[in-house]
Amino acid sequence: MKILMIGSGGREHALIKKLLESPKCEKIYCAPGNGGISRDAELVNIGVMDKEGMVRFAKENDIDLVFVAPDDPLAAGMVDALEDAGLRAFGPRANAAIIEASKVFSKNLMKKYGIPTAKYETFDDADKAIEYIKAENTTPVVVKADGLALGKGVIIAQTIDDAVAAVKSIMEDKQFGDSGNSIVIEEFLTGPEVSVLAFTDGKCVKPMVSSKDHKRAYDNDEGLNTGGMGTVSPNPYYTDALAEECMNTIFLPTIEAMNKEGRTFKGCLYFGLMMTPKGPKVIEYNARFGDPETQVVLPRLKTDLVDICEAVIDEKLSDLEIEWDDGAAACVVMASGGYPVAYKKGIEMFGLDENGGVEGATVYHAGTKYENGRFYTNGGRVLGVTAKAPTLDEALEKAYAAVGKISFEGMHFRHDIGRTK
Ligand code: AMP
Ligand code: GLY
Repeated sequence: MKILMIGSGGREHALIKKLLESPKCEKIYCAPGNGGISRDAELVNIGVMDKEGMVRFAKENDIDLVFVAPDDPLAAGMVDALEDAGLRAFGPRANAAIIEASKVFSKNLMKKYGIPTAKYETFDDADKAIEYIKAENTTPVVVKADGLALGKGVIIAQTIDDAVAAVKSIMEDKQFGDSGNSIVIEEFLTGPEVSVLAFTDGKCVKPMVSSKDHKRAYDNDEGLNTGGMGTVSPNPYYTDALAEECMNTIFLPTIEAMNKEGRTFKGCLYFGLMMTPKGPKVIEYNARFGDPETQVVLPRLKTDLVDICEAVIDEKLSDLEIEWDDGAAACVVMASGGYPVAYKKGIEMFGLDENGGVEGATVYHAGTKYENGRFYTNGGRVLGVTAKAPTLDEALEKAYAAVGKISFEGMHFRHDIGRTK
């Protein structure tokens, strides 16, 4: 099979490396990809939002499977465009990807179908939102822009004044552009966070092994929220009993709710969960694989990923048994100096071999460029250095040993992945 991967991050690199393990995979293209991906796949210079360009390329090159990994093209109907042109694509259509693209949609879905989530109200008028915040008068309070905002559209306000300022900056100053035309104001929840990615063909749902994302920029969960500074799998807080509860109260009800709404979800549905004192609740849905969750979940997958993609597309997922490694995996993200705010690009990296790897670990490239046999930084999150081992401690030790061999000016990474709540 010839496969086209759409996207350019560490998640896409991990997906590509896993797809390459399949005996069915003959060749992989990646649009647009990155420096590390160029060592595993042929890069194609088409932007992730270019539906026509993608359809044309897939047709001209007899692509058998297109994998749409990032949120923006999914929300914009990339899968619809590919399917309507007779191509086979992995990922939800736009009418289902809305579960991530609109928080107002997903919150209302959960309310309508009794799926546990934080108490909330939605607003498209700033004055009404401010009135509500003042009337409720509880802090902390969570203010969320409705649309996609690179994981940055969530503000946890510690005071009423901060919450009012957040509403103004999202709705009036348009800090996140049109994403902030509507907002969700919700109750602040506490408890360990768990990420569960699940394969679904709209008929059945098969959760993958759990993971834990470390979202803050610095050690001890200090600094700004990022796209994710590191992950471990399994998530130590996710017991078998909680997994069963989530299946019954969250996973199955969500799949059924989407079907009832005429928005059947096919692809990878990501459940961002919080294990609160009152039981598991949904913090957010994503319509795609997580980044960097994918980097620790996929290395533990034993079943052929091409077979899974085909079973999802053909709605035959219930026939397939999906097997996982019992051990653990850890991923440490190496980021550019300054990330998640301003950072430089084009800095030469040292310690990587000619394929962008390092002994003892798998290096997934996120923001890198490859030129004349050398690797340069090309983004905020640069690498996801990942190791697998029988135990989490050993996986962490291996991942950090590999991190120690890599260097580039200004680099920063967290030293406590897998160690904090
Ligand atoms: P989201 O983009 O909705 O996943 O939110 C980003 C992060 O903000 C989450 O991973 C949580 O750490 C935090 N967060 C979001 N909603 C809440 C909430 N209702 N209570 C506490 N923390 C939250
Ligand atoms: N790591 C969080 C996300 O992919 O949204």
